Amino acid sequence: MPGVAQTQAALYDGIDLELSWSERDLPERERTKHVNRLHPYLGKFIPQLVETLLQRYVPRGGRVLDPFAGSGTTLVQALESGHDATGVDIAAFNALLMRVKTERYNLFTLEDELRDACARLDGLEPKRTARGTPAYIRRWFAPEAAAQLLGFRSWIPDYEHADVLRVVLTRAARSVRLTTHFDLDFPRTPQTEPYWCYKHKRECRPVQRADHFLRRYALDTLARVHAFARVRARGRAASVLHGDARELELGGPYAGVVTSPPYPGLIDYHEQHRYAYELLGLEDRGTFELGRGATKRAIAEYTKGVARVLERSAESLRRGARVVVVVNDRRDLYPEIFERAGLRLEHRVRRHVNRRTGRRAGEYFEDVLVARKSART
Ligand SMILES: C[S@@+](CC[C@H](N)C(=O)[O-])C[C@H]1O[C@@H](n2cnc3c(N)ncnc32)[C@H](O)[C@@H]1O
Repeated sequence: MPGVAQTQAALYDGIDLELSWSERDLPERERTKHVNRLHPYLGKFIPQLVETLLQRYVPRGGRVLDPFAGSGTTLVQALESGHDATGVDIAAFNALLMRVKTERYNLFTLEDELRDACARLDGLEPKRTARGTPAYIRRWFAPEAAAQLLGFRSWIPDYEHADVLRVVLTRAARSVRLTTHFDLDFPRTPQTEPYWCYKHKRECRPVQRADHFLRRYALDTLARVHAFARVRARGRAASVLHGDARELELGGPYAGVVTSPPYPGLIDYHEQHRYAYELLGLEDRGTFELGRGATKRAIAEYTKGVARVLERSAESLRRGARVVVVVNDRRDLYPEIFERAGLRLEHRVRRHVNRRTGRRAGEYFEDVLVARKSART
């Protein structure tokens, strides 16, 4: 068909301004609205991007699938935009986070429970790390902080909304690790002495106590769950599947896929929440995580794995429904991935990403690849 190649080439060039926001258009508090910021997560979508992609590419009210759902931005936005949704992730902590974000709560009970769990911190005496404290906790937390985190953890099973308390606990743990303020993402060694802080431009000290973080995050979580309850569509629900998207039964039929796969060698999705795995005793399935490593072999494995997930996702779609993939494909792997998955690229649009915070600040471009199942059998 003459013209098709040319049309596709033309689609490569343009930057889609409707999908590219400046810090001023879309400040941090909007990008992290309501439950999207229940816990930090590196490598997530912004909800406004998902909102536009759903409007453009998924029929109104149709059920959405995200096979690499991460912290659940697709699910949360789908619920806000009036869709049901299913999210899959291999990492246990991500599955927990998604369930907590998308669950419906009795808000009175939730508030009582969060307040009660925090009030119990007042009765905690110990200042020294108890015997038998796991090595990770001894290494990464000051003794008083460790005692408070472990105390809080010990009473979580008493509550109906235990998973919400688990997310509060781990968010506090992330903030009180013995690390510098400018290296919260992947700290390498514990920081036990005062240090010059590049972020605050003054001397800072490693955190010694966890109680004020637990209280602050409990209240913040409550406010965020309330805010989401006000905007989510009635009668819509999300389901979360924990496992390897290459193998799990994905369900369906879906009216569209919106996803951002991992990318080789960029982010270790288990390691970024190591404290959560250690504190909650979650199973680490890191060896099944796609995108670990960037050797030739790892990239071949990645290409095959992502293709398999997209192929299976496309099989779970209604006829003619679209697969929308957001990726910064600097190795140009996606033409082969789509070919293997039996997907035909319909458009490719670029968006400008301007990250203004953290040590990973900087700008780059990301592609939105919109595809459908090829006509081949
Ligand atoms: C780029 S992140 C997705 C972020 C998501 N869009 C968000 O807004 O939070 C990719 C996710 O794919 C998950 N993942 C990697 N390998 C997987 C596999 N084999 N099956 C399912 N999920 C996998 C990772 O754990 C990670 O959470």
